This record gives sequence, structure tokens and C-alpha cells, in this order.
Amino acid sequence: MGHIAFGLVVIESEGSSFEAITLAPVAVLPAYQRRGIGGRLIRAGLEECRKLGHEVVVLVGHPEYYPRFGFVQAVPKGMGCEFKVPDDAFMILELREGALEGKKGVVKFQPEFKEGV
Ligand SMILES: CC(C)(COP(=O)(O)OP(=O)(O)OC[C@H]1O[C@@H](n2cnc3c(N)ncnc32)[C@H](O)[C@@H]1OP(=O)(O)O)[C@@H](O)C(=O)NCCC(=O)NCCS
Repeated sequence: MGHIAFGLVVIESEGSSFEAITLAPVAVLPAYQRRGIGGRLIRAGLEECRKLGHEVVVLVGHPEYYPRFGFVQAVPKGMGCEFKVPDDAFMILELREGALEGKKGVVKFQPEFKEGV
């Protein structure tokens, strides 16, 4: 009925870089949408990422959908995206409070993610 995937990204800045996670893609079959499945996949997935020790999640997605999971715009946090995307669709979440303190950079995705972009 639904699917979610997470992958690694690298956030690079001059002289340093750190790993983060990207949430993409999430999808629910049209006949099953708006029953909470997408939200449950996202919350459960984020919790697994947190348990595995990941601290930061980025994504490019619907600006109205992801804030309910705690995502905020990434550009005001000092983040850039290697793709040209609308600022309000480029979002970030701390899985550990303070994880982004003193950090900024450009999000670089895996080559597979870029196919078709
Ligand atoms: C986005 C998606 C995964 C949500 O899954 P879902 O199971 O329908 O989500 P939930 O039932 O948990 O949440 C439903 C709420 O999501 C919101 N929502 C769903 N799609 C949305 C969209 N495209 N933009 C903004 N909000 C959206 C609505 O507010 C809806 O609430 P409502 O029923 O009160 O209006 C699903 O709509 C989907 O597969 N869409 C097509 C693929 C896609 O766009 N994936 C995301 C890529 S960024």
C-alpha cells in the first residue's frame, strides 16, 4: 500500500563535511491515500533513523506536508541544495536537538538519486 526509503547524503562545506539522511521517496497507492499511512511510514522511518544514530534528515518535498513532522526550511539554517529547487520545498529536520549547531553546507545526493533530475 505504501513505500518509504531513506538514503545517505553528504553535507559539504569548505574544509569539512558530515553525513545526513534523505527521506525519498515516500508514496502511498492512490486508493489508500489520506488514511494516515504516509504519516505513519514517515514517523516510523524517522524513529528508526534516530535509533540508528542519525541526526539530520533533509528532503525536497511538498512545503505544506512535511512541517507536521518537524521539518523546517533548510536555507535559513545555512543549507544549500546541489539542485535548483524552490527554497520552501527544501527542508531539514534535526533528529537530535542541536545537531545542526554551527553546521552549514551544500547537500550532495548519491548519483542514483540524480538520475532523471
Ligand atoms: C504524499 C503522500 C505520501 C501522503 O500519503 P498519505 O497516506 O495520503 O498521507 P496521510 O494520510 O498520512 O496524510 C494525509 C494528509 O497529507 C496531506 N497531503 C497529502 N498529499 C499532499 C500534498 N501533495 N501536498 C500537501 N499536503 C498533502 C494532506 O493534508 C492530507 O490531509 P487531509 O486528508 O486532512 O487533507 C501521498 O499523497 C502520495 O503518495 N502522493 C504521491 C507521491 C508523492 O507526492 N510523494 C511525495 C514526494 S515529496
